[in-house]
Amino acid sequence: MFEGRGYQLEIAPAFHWSLKTDILAHTARAAACQILGEQVLPSKGTLDNDSAFAATSFPIAHVRAAFPALNRPPGFVFFDNAAGAQIPQIVLDAVNHHLLECNVQRGGRYAKSQEVDATIVRARKSVADLVNARDPSEIAFGMNATSFIRMVSLAIGQALGARNEIVLTDMDHEANVATWLILERFGAKFSWWKMREDGLLHAGDLVPLLSSRTRLVACTLASNAIGSIVDVAAAAEVTHRAGAEIFLDAVHYAPHGLIDVRAFDCDYLACSGYKIFAPHMGFLWGRRELLQSLPTFREDFIPDEPPGKIEAGTFIYENVAGMDAAVRYLEELGKLLSPGDIAVSRRAALQHALTAIQKYEQSLTLGMLEVLNRCGATVYGITDKGRVHHRVPTLCFNVPKIPPAKVTEKLASANIGVRDGHMYAPRLMKRLGLSTNSGAVRASLVHYNTPDEVREFGATLDEIKRSC
Ligand SMILES: Cc1ncc(COP(=O)(O)O)c(C=O)c1O
Repeated sequence: MFEGRGYQLEIAPAFHWSLKTDILAHTARAAACQILGEQVLPSKGTLDNDSAFAATSFPIAHVRAAFPALNRPPGFVFFDNAAGAQIPQIVLDAVNHHLLECNVQRGGRYAKSQEVDATIVRARKSVADLVNARDPSEIAFGMNATSFIRMVSLAIGQALGARNEIVLTDMDHEANVATWLILERFGAKFSWWKMREDGLLHAGDLVPLLSSRTRLVACTLASNAIGSIVDVAAAAEVTHRAGAEIFLDAVHYAPHGLIDVRAFDCDYLACSGYKIFAPHMGFLWGRRELLQSLPTFREDFIPDEPPGKIEAGTFIYENVAGMDAAVRYLEELGKLLSPGDIAVSRRAALQHALTAIQKYEQSLTLGMLEVLNRCGATVYGITDKGRVHHRVPTLCFNVPKIPPAKVTEKLASANIGVRDGHMYAPRLMKRLGLSTNSGAVRASLVHYNTPDEVREFGATLDEIKRSC
């Protein structure tokens, strides 16, 4: 028996997520969809407009059962996913397996070491599939996204020449701003691609900022503060027309939508595993020819070839094993959602999973907008219900006359985890007219959050408003 918040259901052991369980067998899948299809119906809600939670065929009960941390008492509504998500059992198992069975250095001639080598090769292929890279050698593993952005900025800073202008946005996380601003000491000049009042960055506004002096545009795929999605393919097109390169920060977007470096036509992309259901680690994708020419630090005996030339020292193998399993988690979810298609490719399965996630998350966004609107909160960014496809379920708001820290403290005492502050996007806070000291409250949801949790959040917020 799985007891979620606000709902209870039976899950047959066969439907628990497990490496060993062949849930993807066609008949099992069909049965699972049927069973889960009944289970996913949201419980009767108290929202004014329950259509906000239009029942999708998203297997939410199955998803939640896959994440052990979500099922441990006491009940807890976790709406701080933008700071790091929970991990499914399949990822725990992979990390555990690595530490128990092959916690050794790679590159040895003995079996355990060879297993580490094999894990890294497999993980590189998995992440290459996740981002649609042309080749696994375009994927580098490391500590986190920030250190990769800095590594590329250091390399680019050494070779600015006459193309010394860098375009930054006022919407980005500071990790994709400060890492470039530091190139001022190498003669870099900066211009700012600004968000419009509609909460979006428009590629048309980028055009006048570009010239034959532009070296690079650095922008996010989605705002970690207000959730807006950026049309990065359009940005890449105008950037390339000017002969410049585009560096994408995929950290906030990755758990919410499909990454496709070929469709985006970007040049570099950095991401963090811990935002996408893996442990703490980061990865970088770059066009192979660019990575090849990038000057990086490496010891003499490391060939000047990606990915080795970008991975100085030892990275955390168990977390890379976890990242590989996180891709498998998404793949298996996609296969579960691919009716009748037993031979679906991994990339197609990932596409199914992330398309379904996006759709389900849009219903969560609608629910969040509704409860925030009902309690009179000021929501920053896209609030128009007809435009929810331009955002992810990351809601930044303030409740009139109640400081953000007080709202999050009160929510915390009701076992609801959200965050307050500048969200590491101080320029965006200023742009929104907010103090960078107090900022705003951010509730950030992912696909394992539920309509019931949204209702509970809304009811608690109403109560806070009444009592303050
Ligand atoms: C949009 C965005 N970019 C970059 C980062 C930094 O990522 P990391 O902690 O992997 O360096 C974060 C972290 O929250 C983020 O949300």
